[in-house]
Amino acid sequence: MNGRGTVAWVNIDNYLWNLELIRNTCKKDVMPVVKADAYGHGKIELSKAAQNQGYSKFAVAFISEAADLIKNGLTSQILVFGYCEPYELKNYIEFSDYIVPTIFSAHFIEQAYSLLGKDIRKFVFDIKYNTGMSRVGINDYEIDSVIELIKKYNLRIRGFYSHYATADDLDDFVLIQYEKYLKMLDYITSKGISISLRHMSNSAAAMFFPQNSLDIVRPGIATYGLQPSSKKYISGLKPVMEIKSKIIKLNTVENGETVGYSRTYTAKEKLQTAIIPVGYADGYFRSLSNRGRVLINGEYCNILGRISMDQMTVDVTGKNVAYDDEVVLIGQSKNNFISADELADICGTINYEITSKITSRIRRKYIKGGVIFE
Ligand SMILES: Cc1ncc(COP(=O)(O)O)c(C=O)c1O
Repeated sequence: MNGRGTVAWVNIDNYLWNLELIRNTCKKDVMPVVKADAYGHGKIELSKAAQNQGYSKFAVAFISEAADLIKNGLTSQILVFGYCEPYELKNYIEFSDYIVPTIFSAHFIEQAYSLLGKDIRKFVFDIKYNTGMSRVGINDYEIDSVIELIKKYNLRIRGFYSHYATADDLDDFVLIQYEKYLKMLDYITSKGISISLRHMSNSAAAMFFPQNSLDIVRPGIATYGLQPSSKKYISGLKPVMEIKSKIIKLNTVENGETVGYSRTYTAKEKLQTAIIPVGYADGYFRSLSNRGRVLINGEYCNILGRISMDQMTVDVTGKNVAYDDEVVLIGQSKNNFISADELADICGTINYEITSKITSRIRRKYIKGGVIFE
């Protein structure tokens, strides 16, 4: 980890605020999704804060992420969305009270049973069903063989879940998926599988389709204060991450001189430029070259030339700036703001990718109740 005056500030109060906003809007219990290191924000600190606030179920993508949380003090149930290698289940058997693996194929059950034997019953599982994503989930034609194996090995089942494909598009496919889910829920229940936790909703579904949100919702992006949809704005969400750096060098660039690799920017007049010690190896997208902007003392300053691996250049001509001045890459400076959404739009991606790509080279600092910690 490298200091160099660059920090991703993670506001835990805002995170807890967003969780409450979601809970109050959909009036359902909330299972925060903290995979990919909480979309780049830091899964351990945020999950622990949420757990202290009373949230008792979480979700991650990989079993190693769940184990990491447990080793760092989480005592909640953690659903693992993705594939768990049977040897991982065996390795983490001591955490079986907390880890909830997902069943999405008969193959997985057979594999896991052949390695774990009766120890497979130490885990409680959620079943995932494909209603429209055609991804990791059981398909209709597989359900009987899965039910048969669940019964044969006497597996402990907690939940039955699926995932909406278009809740952010606000379209009717949500209702088709919901109906399909309910039908299959009836079917597996009629076959003697009892389900205590029904869930389907990501952030967009939780906020826009609360009536189709079953027992608990699984929001990720909105918990970080970022908009889940470009179709409908959710007011009240508070961004959790701000990225701040500083000016480490000031240069005068003469008319006709060029800036950066491949000389993609040529000065058309005498310029004052500032060098910021952040580059694409920090997860700041290279596609922001010549297109993005930062905030210095509340003023927007354009990025000039190619973003390098560890640094970039911005235009500060005519601005009252000095060495060590704060530079905001994402966040607020005086009355102006740069959002992860703005960067995502320029890069032709989604806000999820912007924060989750910020690498560990940028140190995270956490703020809660005015106290700062790392
Ligand atoms: C199965 C599942 N549920 C919930 C989520 C959270 O989605 P969002 O971040 O859109 O709220 C994800 C994220 O990809 C997911 O894969």
